[in-house]
Amino acid sequence: MGEPFGIAVVGCGNISNQYLRNLAAFPDVRVLCCADLDLSRAKAQAAAYGVPAAVTVRQAVEHPGVRLVVNLTVPAGHAEVASAAIAAGKHVWNEKPLALDVAAGKDLLKQAENEGVRIGCAPDTVLGAGIQSARRLIASGGIGEPLSALTLLQGPGPQSWHPDPEFLFAPGAGPLFDLGPYYLSVLATLFGPVTRVAAVGRRPADSRIIGAGPRAGTEFSVTVPTYVAALAEYAAGQAASLLFSWDSPLSRHGFVEITGTEATLAVPDPNRFDGDLRVRRAGERDWAVIPSAGAAAGRGSGIVDMVRAIAHGEPHRASGELALHVLETMIAIERSARRAGFEQVQSTFEGLAPLRAEWDPYVSAI
Ligand SMILES: NC(=O)c1ccc[n+]([C@@H]2O[C@H](COP(=O)([O-])OP(=O)(O)OC[C@H]3O[C@@H](n4cnc5c(N)ncnc54)[C@H](O)[C@@H]3O)[C@@H](O)[C@H]2O)c1
Repeated sequence: MGEPFGIAVVGCGNISNQYLRNLAAFPDVRVLCCADLDLSRAKAQAAAYGVPAAVTVRQAVEHPGVRLVVNLTVPAGHAEVASAAIAAGKHVWNEKPLALDVAAGKDLLKQAENEGVRIGCAPDTVLGAGIQSARRLIASGGIGEPLSALTLLQGPGPQSWHPDPEFLFAPGAGPLFDLGPYYLSVLATLFGPVTRVAAVGRRPADSRIIGAGPRAGTEFSVTVPTYVAALAEYAAGQAASLLFSWDSPLSRHGFVEITGTEATLAVPDPNRFDGDLRVRRAGERDWAVIPSAGAAAGRGSGIVDMVRAIAHGEPHRASGELALHVLETMIAIERSARRAGFEQVQSTFEGLAPLRAEWDPYVSAI
């Protein structure tokens, strides 16, 4: 049995709670230190989750026991922190999006290749039981030939619950970049790469008010579209219609339907790891519910897949290439909304090998 992989968590805000809780329960990894620009946050999270040290970002990436840096900073920090970690010879797991633009994403992949380290990137929800079961069902011919997808994400926006929501309305976020990775990664997992997109975007309000936490009532600027409707074409022939909106009082999310020649598949929420599949066959009046099979262990599952892949010399699933393709797709959608025409997507990625239903991050496998 190999030693657990030493890990540093950089960025100790909201989402670090889910990561730190899960990583502590996965035997193939061990979190050795927490870091944040705000050291008091790193200290608080280290104390809360039994992590031995709270350090500066530089100390975290240079920590001799750390082999992989988990980068949970805000999107504007993703490339900078990842690059520092790679320069120190460490593998990197980035929260989404991979970087703010395609050039920065490509630079990261190149730098990692040169240093002989790997990049993985959220979302790892595509490795959850829900999406993996959908994938197995489609591969087994369960809906016939997959033809198209319809996805829907709408609601009033995260300023209502996030205590520091400014970054969610700045470049690198908005509903397209914040939640698009979940929906686009699911479709990439099921269909493969995108070839071209078209979109319209809107920003009805230039500012919003924080609704929760110590700064509730504070007004902040909105600089990105908060409504984006997109069309995407896939290399394998499918088409998709996608809506990402934070301009709707009515909340609806997690809607992903795949239409095939013989049935429609309602995929579980792409922002979750679990959920049943629902299938409605041609001519039937009711949906059949198919329980999903596999692990639904939450955020950090992709890190376990990555360290196991490193240990066994195999490719990991939530790869930098997939994240770069999703980033390029989102940037092409944003550009199309500005220019009002179709935009090509050039990048591609190796299809993710499906996970076996027995895959279990709670049992050591390195
Ligand atoms: N909050 C969620 O529900 C959620 C869910 C999934 C993914 N994410 C993603 O996780 C990332 C973080 O989101 P969050 O909600 O935790 O944000 P947050 O603002 O709550 O926390 C971010 C933390 O990173 C620190 N930080 C920022 N720049 C840094 C840098 N250069 N070096 C070191 N530390 C730095 C900040 O001080 C802060 O503590 C984002 O990419 C977001 O898209 C968030």
